[in-house]
Amino acid sequence: MTRILFYLEDYSHDIWREALLKIDPTVEFRSYPDWGSPDDGPAYAFVWEPKPRLLAQYHNIKAIFSLGAGVDHLTRDPALPKDVPIIRMGDDGLKEGMAEFVTMSVLMHHRGMPALLAKQRQKDWGRFFARAARDVRVGILGFGALGQVSAATLLPFGYDVAAWSRTEKLPRNGISLYHGTGSLDAFLARTDILVGLLPSTSETSGLMNSDRLARLPRGASIINAGRGSLVVLDDLVELLHSGHLGAASLDVFPEEPLPMDHALWGLDNVIITPHIAAITRPDTAAEYVLRNIKKLERGETAENQLDMKRGY
Ligand SMILES: NC(=O)c1ccc[n+]([C@@H]2O[C@H](COP(=O)([O-])OP(=O)(O)OC[C@H]3O[C@@H](n4cnc5c(N)ncnc54)[C@H](OP(=O)(O)O)[C@@H]3O)[C@@H](O)[C@H]2O)c1
Repeated sequence: MTRILFYLEDYSHDIWREALLKIDPTVEFRSYPDWGSPDDGPAYAFVWEPKPRLLAQYHNIKAIFSLGAGVDHLTRDPALPKDVPIIRMGDDGLKEGMAEFVTMSVLMHHRGMPALLAKQRQKDWGRFFARAARDVRVGILGFGALGQVSAATLLPFGYDVAAWSRTEKLPRNGISLYHGTGSLDAFLARTDILVGLLPSTSETSGLMNSDRLARLPRGASIINAGRGSLVVLDDLVELLHSGHLGAASLDVFPEEPLPMDHALWGLDNVIITPHIAAITRPDTAAEYVLRNIKKLERGETAENQLDMKRGY
């Protein structure tokens, strides 16, 4: 029997219980705060933003599954257990959701929707004539699970797609690949629509500051759906004001919700969404978690296991 300790604030836990039990009716689903005693025996944690120090109290936890692809909500816990594997969410639902969001956002920026919506509010018939997709250079920062599926979804539209990662990747048809800090400036210089799909690490925090944003061609757009720490918001606002950047779609922010008095709320050329680019779906996530528990029980490594040294 598999015991799962589930933690998610402000949402019903029933759909998660049902999704897990539908696949394996023998699962013992313990919904926080009903986690029982730390001495109850081996268990797997399946959590989102658990209270700091909670996981450390349950010394029988064999692995921690993050309800999302990001793990910064776990790694900021000063008492996070050190020798327990941490597994990032990597279910197909999450990938499909991100590919949809990135494709929608790229199309919106390519077709000038932020400007057209602003004109609509002014009852202005001013037209925007978009370039052909093949003349639009999309650059994806981060070529992991979500970056790769997003790139593959964009290709059939004809976009000129490039991706940037930390380590070198094998060549892919139709995608120009860049890796490492040394190639970042060249990657930015060839990018009309930048898509942020990077995790939050010490290396990616503040990476898109005014110097780097200024390396994008004049009029470029930026979409950030990875983590808010990537972009220095004051620098972004300045470059949007100066006209160097044309528009932005932001789904993630250094502080969420974005504070009510933030300058970004007032900008016509900015689309703000409340961290909904890709939401973990209970059916596909339950299958993913139970599949990976089986792997761990067999002594294998789980998919998407966090590498603490890399930070993602
Ligand atoms: N907005 C939302 O709703 C939402 C939903 C889900 C996920 N997310 C965010 O999306 C992020 C990406 O998810 P994923 O599943 O694609 O992660 P992933 O599979 O771990 O991929 C991360 C990518 O970032 C690259 N990278 C990391 N550090 C780098 C650095 N210093 N320089 C250059 N490249 C670097 C990695 O390079 P290598 O390939 O060389 O390792 C990899 O290509 C998550 O961490 C999460 O924060 C947001």
